[in-house]
Amino acid sequence: MKGIILAGGSATRLFPLSKAISKQIMPVYDKPMIYYPLSALLLAGIREILIISTPRDLPMFEELLGDGKKMGISLSYKVQLVPNGLAQAFVLGKEFLNGEPGCLILGDNMFYGQGFRQMLQQAVADIEKGRGACIFGYEVSDPRAYGVVEFDKDNKVLSLEEKPAEPKSNYAVPGLYFYDSSVCDKAAALKPSARGEYEITDLNKEYLKEGTLRVQLFGRGFAWLDTGNCDSLLEAGNFIATIQNRQGFYVSCIEEICWRNGWISTDQLRELGKTMEKTAYGQYLLRLAK
Ligand code: G1P
Repeated sequence: MKGIILAGGSATRLFPLSKAISKQIMPVYDKPMIYYPLSALLLAGIREILIISTPRDLPMFEELLGDGKKMGISLSYKVQLVPNGLAQAFVLGKEFLNGEPGCLILGDNMFYGQGFRQMLQQAVADIEKGRGACIFGYEVSDPRAYGVVEFDKDNKVLSLEEKPAEPKSNYAVPGLYFYDSSVCDKAAALKPSARGEYEITDLNKEYLKEGTLRVQLFGRGFAWLDTGNCDSLLEAGNFIATIQNRQGFYVSCIEEICWRNGWISTDQLRELGKTMEKTAYGQYLLRLAK
C-alpha cells in the first residue's frame, strides 16, 4: 500500500493568512499542518508517499520534508497544475502507485485518538486482502460542508452525497480513503461534477455501485479536527497543545513514529533531534533517544 497526500487548493477561507503560502504548511501549534496527515499514513505502516500540491507550494514541501531518507521513508512530489478535484490525485498518482493499492489523505485533515493505529492497519489489511475501498464516518452536528454517508444497522453503505443541503445522516466522510488497485482506472473514467470538479465522492460511489465500499466509524471521543477557518485552526492548535503539555507525548511527531515503526535507529533519531535542539520538539526527540 502506498500513500498520497493532497495538499493543493487556494484555501480562500483562510485569507489573508493563506494568500502567499500553502495552508498545509501553516502551524498547528508546534508543527506544520502536513505533519498530521503524514503521521496518519506512517501509523498505517505506509512508507512510500507522494505529496501533490500547486506549482507555487510544492517546492516548500520539498524543502520541509526532503526525500524522507533520514526518516527511513520515501517521499516524492508531483504538481497539480489545476485544482480540479480530489479524485485527480489518482490520475496524477497513477505512475507512482504503479498498480498498487493506495491511501489518500487530505493535507488539512487531522485525526487523534486511541485505537487510530489499529483502525488504519485494519483498513490496510482489508484492502490488501481483497477488492474494494474503505472510507470512514464521523458524526458531526452539521455535516452539510462534507461528503455525507448514510448506512444501515449493519454499517452497509446506502448512499453518499457531496455537501448535501439536506443530509441523510449526520455522518461526515473525513478526508482519508483506502482503495484497491482499480482506483486509478476508476478515477480516470470520472466526469466532472456540476461545480466542475472530479469529486472524491463520485469515486467512492463507483465502489458503492460495485458493492465493495466499506465504512468504518470513528466513535465519540475521537478527534477529527477541522482547519478550514481561522477559529478552527486556532482550536486545533490549542487541542494539540493541551494534549501534548498534559501528557508529555507529542501528537503526530513523524520522527517518533518512524522510530517506533523500526524504520530508523535510535542513533538516527538522536541525529534528527540534534538538528532542532533549540526547540522543545528537538529536545523531545533527544529525550526519546535516551
Ligand atoms: C472534501 C471532500 C468531502 C470531505 C472533506 C473532508 O471537501 O470533498 O467529501 O468530507 O474534504 O475534509 P472540501 O473540504 O475539500 O470541500
